[in-house]
Amino acid sequence: MEPRPPPAKRLRTSSVGGGYRRNYVFAHNMEQQRMDLPIYRARAKLIGQLRHLDTAIIIGETGSGKTTQVPQYLYEASIGGHGVIAITQPRRVAAISLAARVSEEKKTELGTLIGYTVRFEDLTSHKSKIKFLTDGMLLREAMLDPLLRRYSIVILDEAHERTIQTDVLFGIVKSAQRKRKELSKMPLKVIIMSATMDVDLFSQYFNQAPVLYLEGRQHSIQIFYTKETQTDYLHASLVSIFQIHQEAQPSANVLVFLTGQEEIEAMSKTCKQIAKNLPQGSCQMSVFPLYASLPHLQQLRVFQPGKKDCRKVILSTNIAETSVTIPGIKYVVDTGMVKAKHYTPESGLEVLAVQQVSKAQAWQRAGRAGRQHAGICYRLYTEEEFEKFINMTIPEIQRCNLSSVMLQLLALGIPNILTFDFISKPSPDAVQAAIEQLEQLGAVEHKDNQISLTPLGKKMAAFPLEPRFSKTLLVSPEFHCTEEILTIVSLLSVESVLYNPRAQQDEVLSARRKFISSEGDHMTLLNIYRAFKNVQGQKEWCRENFVNSRNMMMVAEVRHQLRDICVKFGVRLESSRSDTSNIRRCLAHSLFLNAAELQLDGTYLTLDCRHQVAIHPSSVLFHFKPSYVLYNELLHTSKCYMRDLCVVDPDWLYEAAPEYFRRKLKGAKT
Ligand code: CDP
Ligand code: MG
Repeated sequence: MEPRPPPAKRLRTSSVGGGYRRNYVFAHNMEQQRMDLPIYRARAKLIGQLRHLDTAIIIGETGSGKTTQVPQYLYEASIGGHGVIAITQPRRVAAISLAARVSEEKKTELGTLIGYTVRFEDLTSHKSKIKFLTDGMLLREAMLDPLLRRYSIVILDEAHERTIQTDVLFGIVKSAQRKRKELSKMPLKVIIMSATMDVDLFSQYFNQAPVLYLEGRQHSIQIFYTKETQTDYLHASLVSIFQIHQEAQPSANVLVFLTGQEEIEAMSKTCKQIAKNLPQGSCQMSVFPLYASLPHLQQLRVFQPGKKDCRKVILSTNIAETSVTIPGIKYVVDTGMVKAKHYTPESGLEVLAVQQVSKAQAWQRAGRAGRQHAGICYRLYTEEEFEKFINMTIPEIQRCNLSSVMLQLLALGIPNILTFDFISKPSPDAVQAAIEQLEQLGAVEHKDNQISLTPLGKKMAAFPLEPRFSKTLLVSPEFHCTEEILTIVSLLSVESVLYNPRAQQDEVLSARRKFISSEGDHMTLLNIYRAFKNVQGQKEWCRENFVNSRNMMMVAEVRHQLRDICVKFGVRLESSRSDTSNIRRCLAHSLFLNAAELQLDGTYLTLDCRHQVAIHPSSVLFHFKPSYVLYNELLHTSKCYMRDLCVVDPDWLYEAAPEYFRRKLKGAKT
């Protein structure tokens, strides 16, 4: 599908009633608000159509009411009978906040009629009839019951995001629907929703499912491009922010799309400094960063009404593109950049890097400007550049390491993952590389030309973790350090527990000093967790030490759940206490595919494919140069950086995967 033309040209703007605005701002009557949503006018027709269709695709502008209303309409019309309505979201923050919103609209307590299930958190009961889940969680449920018998309707929302889990779910849900029909079981209704997507591809994949278009009632949005190519998008956004600030009414808020936490924190600091020095009497500016690992209370500040005569400027990652909705935005500044994962199967490298957005993403961003009033979007690129953007974001399944998904598909009993009915096929090389990785981790084996899970692999699939982390847990008894590994894996499974505001850099450094371990970031995090436990998770302690207390509580909860799974498998829970080498040795046994060695010239090369990498400045090892390190991920900015590092002994790497390393480490040992 060609991406949409600018909303300004296409959308009806004449019917923008003042009523919508009034009701939105003075949110006192939820029922009225529901009736004011664009989707409400289509309610009866929509219910009529959905009642008879097995599969449907619903397209409608963001904010038209798809996510919050469609599940309620289906429930209110008793479509689907006694079964549960599942509605998936690509991100946990969206699943939680939407469940809360719908529950409020229905005047029920969250977790009763309406609940949510996200990784490590389940707020549902046997009474729940509408259930918001992350796509990953529905996939996990499918592992236990491939026919998804509990559900009468599955709504796959934000389908255009094409996360790896959503893509696999398309296949799983489609097959569950077919099998239930063959077995004459309760039919499964499948609804796919999005604001922007390749409808032809989806319709074709889902047996020519009809596409239902909802008429939007968004306001007009003017799009401005730069006249010339911008070489520095950060500088360009700064200039745009202050240009808007000089010209626009104080009530007009600005949303700026940047790529990541560090960039946002730096920009926030600069904006605040400039704003402080503006002439007296001019409009004030308050600047709010917004990214996934920001402490929750600070995230909430973005949504609260601003002070009078003070402009809100929100600097956000693409979390504001689809997952969260910020009221009161009139201006959007789109840098056209996003941080995304890329995977090269030949080299085995999975790298996070900043890249251009797709046209679909750019439209989605622009759409954030016209929710309550007519809006303006400044694109910090030329129209010619925009025309060269790819139409749709490349689905994750075609640009990520597939080992997690392959492990799940094998656990689902998919006989031949190479012929699985993917909506977009991953490359055979990527599938092959994933299988090899799983083989190296001891999760799969080849038997009679068939790939199957080993007993270890079966256990690994039961953990809601990446294969390398479930492997670490399962081998930890050999090193007598399961308690510590549980903590480390939990710390790596939630959003960052460290909060690093740029404006207080010196305070952050001095507070962190006491936890730093010369053995790396994993050990440092372990020290922080231990200290947090020693003070019983005191909020004050967290504030003083720049620790995100909410995320830390989450770590404790995750740890608890992982510990339960370990107990179920009879994993011996021992603590290595002060012996940290055992912990690092254990990590070497599962992260050995992510190892790098120091070269004579002071650079690092990965052992897997001898790619040049460097230690990320945020690592505690930045000023040290250990000979061998393990890393969690690679981030490409000005160079390829390793993040979250652990110092290891090369002998441990040999010991972990002798055959694999015989070749890789040759020469380095001399
Ligand atoms: O899914 P879609 O983008 O079509 O819209 P939605 O998520 O159902 O949201 C419809 C409207 O509900 C939004 O425009 C907001 O006015 C409101 N809403 C809200 O106020 N708070 C939320 N957490 C979610 C929605
Ligand atoms: Mg939605």
